[in-house]
Amino acid sequence: MTKRALITGVVGQDGSYLAELLLSKGYIVRGITRRASYPHTQRIDHLFKQHDDRDPATQFRVTYADLTDSSSLGNVLQEFEPTEVYNLAAQSHVGISFETGESTLDINAIGPFRLLDSIRRAGAKDVRYYQASSSEMFGASPPPQSEATPFLPQSPYGVSKVAAFYLTRMHRIAYGMFASNGILFNHESPRRGLNFVTRKITLSISQIVAGELDRIQLGNLDAKRDWGFSGDYVEGIWRILQHSEPDDFVIATGEMHTVRDFLGKTFGILDLDWEDFVTQTDRFLRPAEVPALLGDATKARKLLGWKPTVGFDELCRMMLESDLAAKGLTLDQAKAKAKLLKPRRRGA
Ligand SMILES: NC(=O)c1ccc[n+]([C@@H]2O[C@H](COP(=O)([O-])OP(=O)(O)OC[C@H]3O[C@@H](n4cnc5c(N)ncnc54)[C@H](OP(=O)(O)O)[C@@H]3O)[C@@H](O)[C@H]2O)c1
Repeated sequence: MTKRALITGVVGQDGSYLAELLLSKGYIVRGITRRASYPHTQRIDHLFKQHDDRDPATQFRVTYADLTDSSSLGNVLQEFEPTEVYNLAAQSHVGISFETGESTLDINAIGPFRLLDSIRRAGAKDVRYYQASSSEMFGASPPPQSEATPFLPQSPYGVSKVAAFYLTRMHRIAYGMFASNGILFNHESPRRGLNFVTRKITLSISQIVAGELDRIQLGNLDAKRDWGFSGDYVEGIWRILQHSEPDDFVIATGEMHTVRDFLGKTFGILDLDWEDFVTQTDRFLRPAEVPALLGDATKARKLLGWKPTVGFDELCRMMLESDLAAKGLTLDQAKAKAKLLKPRRRGA
């Protein structure tokens, strides 16, 4: 039987990589997106080119639905009849969740409830459900963090994800649904949103080299994170739903770096000293910080056979190269331009 996957958040970073992965495995994929005043399908435009949306038998289609709108979710479930549901949609920015707490909770916590409840009400007990849970749920719990680590969320985002985590477990226990959580640690890519610290850094470097920007303003440079590659993590997401039983899994690299390390590595690729270009500002500090996240993915390695393939150095290079390429620059061309920058920045 052909598998049918519904992906919420398909126009997001992970949604786009997951759609690619599932299409390559022969799935029929339906993505949902909410209405925006300006098109923002850049991450999946290449998939529209490969799969003609006007063909009734197309393997890939995107329809409008919203995690804050139960009827839209019910409609798409009824019409598409998925065998697997990947709930990736979220207000996914931790810092912004302090400013939009109510809608973050609505989308990230009540949203998964609406989806799970619609699946249950449809009597679709065989549907496998994946919930995009997050290392931010661990918050202030000291590293390393595994499935057994207590949750101590430090933000509305973290709290919303804890609620969704338990709602997913509750549907598993109370109704026997195949509902699993992937507790993913930070994962990045050239498709990462522009206001996440890693992408902000690589994009800013490309702008500095292109002469469009002088300095980057950043908040907490001491935050320690376990950064992996989104392309690797969607493989973990898929494996979680192929497991023989529903369960909860940490997906992480098991390596921790500070924001300073990320700056050092990415600026270092162009032989630049990041301290010449970065201003630390309290403006971006959060009311409560998460000091250190380091995942222990032993369970996923053992039970799912999952492991990351892209390391920290490769991730830094991949993201920087992509942002430079968007400015029409190869790494060598950027290095040459960076050489001219150095004396100017140092006031020589
Ligand atoms: N990346 C990470 O490091 C990480 C780590 C742990 C967990 N997660 C979680 O994993 C999931 C995917 O992450 P990501 O990095 O791909 O995030 P992302 O790029 O921000 O994608 C999230 C998607 O959700 C959509 N969305 C937001 N509100 C919605 C609503 N009300 N109805 C329907 N769609 C809505 C967004 O649409 P718009 O484009 O219209 O805003 C966006 O396409 C998220 O749930 C995130 O919280 C991510």
